[in-house]
Amino acid sequence: MRTPLLAGNWKMHKTVAEAVELVEALLQSIEQGYSTDREVVICPPFTALYPLAPLLAESVIALGAQNMYPADQGAFTGEISPLMLKEVGCRYVILGHSERRQLFGESDTLINRKVRAAVGHGLTPILCVGETKPQRDAGQAETVTLAQLRAGLEGLSAEQLRGVVVAYEPVWAIGTGDTATPADAQAMHAAIRAALAEGWGATVAEAVRVLYGGSVKPDNIDALMAQPDIDGALVGGASLVADQFVRIVNFEALSA
Ligand code: 13P
Repeated sequence: MRTPLLAGNWKMHKTVAEAVELVEALLQSIEQGYSTDREVVICPPFTALYPLAPLLAESVIALGAQNMYPADQGAFTGEISPLMLKEVGCRYVILGHSERRQLFGESDTLINRKVRAAVGHGLTPILCVGETKPQRDAGQAETVTLAQLRAGLEGLSAEQLRGVVVAYEPVWAIGTGDTATPADAQAMHAAIRAALAEGWGATVAEAVRVLYGGSVKPDNIDALMAQPDIDGALVGGASLVADQFVRIVNFEALSA
């Protein structure tokens, strides 16, 4: 059984004061009626991690970062290490987000180094993969997505893969309101799981959580979560609005 994971990627939003306000609102609502059948993580900007950690310490909400450099320390101006993330209480780290790939030129090779460093330090990577609109239109969605998946996870043992979360985020669905249909998302999630099974064995593939990301909102979360291979969501815009994120966390498992 895979425990559903609902993750908020705040991107470059929220000052510390605003972050504290949002977390206080989340804590008030999420703890009511919340049970242990799902996990919740928020990934605020680096500056908010340290001040938020004590607020979240006794809560059901885990803390994650949005990026990381794959070295413990050194002359890497502007970067943050896995040790630093662990020190401030992070359990998760988003890696290989399409914005990092597109705007900051991150390669599959660099992302793979990050994934391995995260796993090596006991952080759970949320590895993002997904195709662009031209790639989908050219019929390459699966090839591109699975190539990013295999490259990002290269060198991990089956045991290490158990500690990884994958997020399928079609680039054309991010911030556009144009979400993949539950059926299209399910098809890609099934292909991802099949690729994991081929590379690392069926048992581990069944244990890895594959999240969907891209315009996840209160009005589409239930249908997405009803799909057998969708194990949670990586939420951008809607994770910045307390009511919306709470509704997403409280998704109802419809039967597919
Ligand atoms: P939106 O939910 O705003 O489309 O963003 C998705 C995303 O990029 C999450 O990482």
